[in-house]
Amino acid sequence: MTSDADFIRGLPKAELHLHIEGSLEPEQMFEFARRNKIALPFRTIEDVRAAYAFSNLQDFLDIYYQGAGALQTERDFHELAMAYFRRVAADGCRHVELFFDPQTHTGRGLPFSVAIDGLLSGMAEAEASLGVTSKLIMCFLRHLDEAAAFATLSAAEPYLDRIIAVGLDSSEVAHRPSKFAGAYKAAGERGLKRVAHAGEEGPPAYVWEALDILKVDRIDHGNRALEDLSLVERLARDGMTLTVCPLSNLKLCVVEDLKVHPIKRMLEFGLQATINSDDPAYFGGYLAENWILTAEAVHLSREHLIRLAKNSFTGSFLSPAEITTHLAAIDAYIASA
Ligand code: ADE
Ligand code: ZN
Repeated sequence: MTSDADFIRGLPKAELHLHIEGSLEPEQMFEFARRNKIALPFRTIEDVRAAYAFSNLQDFLDIYYQGAGALQTERDFHELAMAYFRRVAADGCRHVELFFDPQTHTGRGLPFSVAIDGLLSGMAEAEASLGVTSKLIMCFLRHLDEAAAFATLSAAEPYLDRIIAVGLDSSEVAHRPSKFAGAYKAAGERGLKRVAHAGEEGPPAYVWEALDILKVDRIDHGNRALEDLSLVERLARDGMTLTVCPLSNLKLCVVEDLKVHPIKRMLEFGLQATINSDDPAYFGGYLAENWILTAEAVHLSREHLIRLAKNSFTGSFLSPAEITTHLAAIDAYIASA
């Protein structure tokens, strides 16, 4: 029998929770900063890595927004995306639904088009050269106000046919989902799907709000939903996909040890959980490392792994026919493994 690591790498899977800015490796950060003549708050690559010790989400976000400052041109965003796609193609990833944070870039004076044009061209190249398909999710920064989210939605107007969904990220606890009720309603009226980070650090009430007020199609993270059994029942009944990020949870102290990560419990509650990397350059691993280290820590069986792979496609925004093709590829892989 193949080792779990080999089995996982070969298993066709999708990544549904990936912040492309969170795939900026320190080496690339220095390369872009040099090319763009930007001063970084770090002297060496070792200094950058040493700064990646976080006690909570905000600790991480403070560093992450600084790092994003190195991204200045369409070429930077294109190269950032291609570097990420090359890595996950080697992890057996066939499809990605990636987040980007336009306000992190427009807030520094970049035109809205710079990040999105670079990312879209990287996504097209990844599909042509690596066979990895992808869709783009535009996140609103929840620490900013709803008017800024509306302004971002307006700036995105010419691109709405190339954006699959809106998302909500950044500092969760002081910024509940209902703050963005109007912007999410407007996004839905424009035909966009809706996802939101909820229950990463925020309480179960925030997951309820994401479901009932933002009308989301997926919950990003959702760990704290397990504190409320009626919420667990609701999520299971709705077949709501949770995009769970184990190494992120460990690095941001959402769990104290990977051995107590709730992913197996989520599956056993009948939740449509998936495994994802969140911000892989900051949290110690890309998609396959998240799967392999978690499988080892909580003893996931082959049946669990197959369920997680299938959930990653059934929870995606691919068409039913595309999902059927990916599920058949998983079955063919299992038959041959
Ligand atoms: N932005 C990037 N990663 C994030 C996370 N895990 N939670 C909230 N906002 C984020
Ligand atoms: Zn995230």
